[in-house]
Amino acid sequence: MADRKAYLDMGDGRGKIELPVLEGTMGPDVVDIRNLSRHNIFTYDPGFVSTASCSSSISFIDGEKSILLYRGYPIEQLADQADFMDVSYLLMHGELPNRSEKERFVSRVSKHTMVHDQMLTFFRGFRRDAHPMAVMVGMVGALSAFYHDSLDMANFQHREVAAYRLISKVPTLAAMCYKYSIGQPFQYPRNDLSYVANFLHMMFATPCAAYPVNPVVARALEQIFILHADHEQNASTSTVRLAGSSGASPFACVAAGIASLWGPAHGGANEAVLDMLTQIGDVSNIKDFIQRAKDPKDPFRLMGFGHRVYKNYDPRASVLRDSCHQVLDELSLEDNRLFQVALELEKIALDDDYFMTRKLYPNVDFYSGLLLHAMGIPSNMFTVIFTIARTIGWTAQWNEMASDPDRKIGRPRQLYMGNEPRDFVPLDRRA
Ligand code: CMC
Repeated sequence: MADRKAYLDMGDGRGKIELPVLEGTMGPDVVDIRNLSRHNIFTYDPGFVSTASCSSSISFIDGEKSILLYRGYPIEQLADQADFMDVSYLLMHGELPNRSEKERFVSRVSKHTMVHDQMLTFFRGFRRDAHPMAVMVGMVGALSAFYHDSLDMANFQHREVAAYRLISKVPTLAAMCYKYSIGQPFQYPRNDLSYVANFLHMMFATPCAAYPVNPVVARALEQIFILHADHEQNASTSTVRLAGSSGASPFACVAAGIASLWGPAHGGANEAVLDMLTQIGDVSNIKDFIQRAKDPKDPFRLMGFGHRVYKNYDPRASVLRDSCHQVLDELSLEDNRLFQVALELEKIALDDDYFMTRKLYPNVDFYSGLLLHAMGIPSNMFTVIFTIARTIGWTAQWNEMASDPDRKIGRPRQLYMGNEPRDFVPLDRRA
C-alpha cells in the first residue's frame, strides 16, 4: 500500500497536519483522522455521511455499479445458489462451509431454536395489539436475562454460543409475536425442518392442522432472508456496534439494532410500499401519483424508490422482481392487481426524467412487501422478517467488532451550540 498522506491546513498558524490515507481492498480510500484529537481538532459529520466508523470485511456495496458482496461473493449468486445457512456461516466465519462444516452448523443452529419456557410469561404482559417490533425489542432484550452464562466478550466460545442462540431464537420469537397478536397458541419449533420451513411452520401451523410448506414460497422467503442478511454499516448495524463497544450483552445490542431497524426510513419502508400500492389501487391512477412524487410542495414520495448508497438499480430488487413473478404464478392468486400496479409504476418512473436525473431506482423494499403479502404475512410483520434476516449480519458485525484490536468504546464528540457559563437564577427572580 502506497504511503499516501492528506494535509489539513488549519489556517491559524498551526501549520499543516499530516493525515495518513488508508486504502481498502475495494471502495473509496479514507483519511485516517484518529490523531486529530491530539491537536484538539474534531470533525463534524451528522449522519456519518463522510465517515467510516470502522474497518470491516463482511459486506461491500458499490452503489454506482449495483454491486453488493458478502465476503466477496456477489449477492445475485448467493440468492440464486446458496441457502440461508450457507450465507449465515459465510457471514459469521468468512468462508462458505464445506459439507461437514455445514452439517455441524445446521445442527447447532437447530439445537438452540427453543426459548426458555418462562419467556412465555413475558409475552402475556404485552397487549395483543402491540406492534410486533415493539414486542421484538422487549423479547430479544430479555434473552440477556436468560442467557447470562456466556457473555465474556473476549472469549471466542462465548461469542459463538451467543451468535447461535441469536440466529436460532429470533425466528422463534418472531413467530411467537405473530401468534400472540392473533390469539393462536404458540407453535414449538421443529428441528427436522429447514430454517425457513421451520419459521413458516411456527407462523402458520396450528395444533389442529399442520402447515404444508410450499417449496416455491419457502425458497422466495429464503431469498428475502439472504438479501437482507447484511448491508455494511447501516443505521441498525452501527447501533449494534455502538451499543456493543461498551461491552454490553450481545442480546441487548441486537435489541438496540431492532429498535433502530423499526424506523420507516430504514426497515419500515416495505410496509409503506404496500400501503402506497394499495392506495394507488389501479394502473390508471399511477400518473397522478408520479406527478405528486415530483411536486416539491407535496411531501409524498414514491416509496421503494431511491437509496442513499445505490445510485443505480438495487441488485436486491432485481432478484425479488423475478421472485415475485414465480411466487405469484405458483400461488395463482386471482388478484395480483398490486403487482401489476408495481410493474407499471416501475416502468413509468424509470422512463421519467425526474427519476432518471436523480438516479432514483427501485430498492429492495419495492418488491419485498409484495412478496411477503402474497405469502400471507401481514404488513406489520414485514420489518420482523427483516429482523430475522439481519440478525446474522448484526451478530457477525458485533463479533468482528469484539475481536478488533482497534476497538474503542464509541464516543463521538459534538459541536456545542448552547449557552456559555452563566449563574443560576432563583425561582423568584426568573422572568
Ligand atoms: N420519490 C420522489 N422523489 C425522491 C425520492 C422518492 N422516493 N427519493 C428521493 N427523491 C428526490 C428528493 O426529493 C430529492 O429531490 P431534489 O434534489 O429535487 O430535492 C432527490 O431525489 C435526492 O433525495 P434525497 O432525500 O437527498 O436522497 P437521500 O439519499 O437522502 O434519501 C431515501 C434516500 C431512501 C431516504 C429516499 O430516496 C426516500 O425517501 N425513498 C423512499 C423511502 C424508501 O424507499 N426507503 C427505503 C430505502 S432502502 C432500505 C434499506 O436499504 O435499508
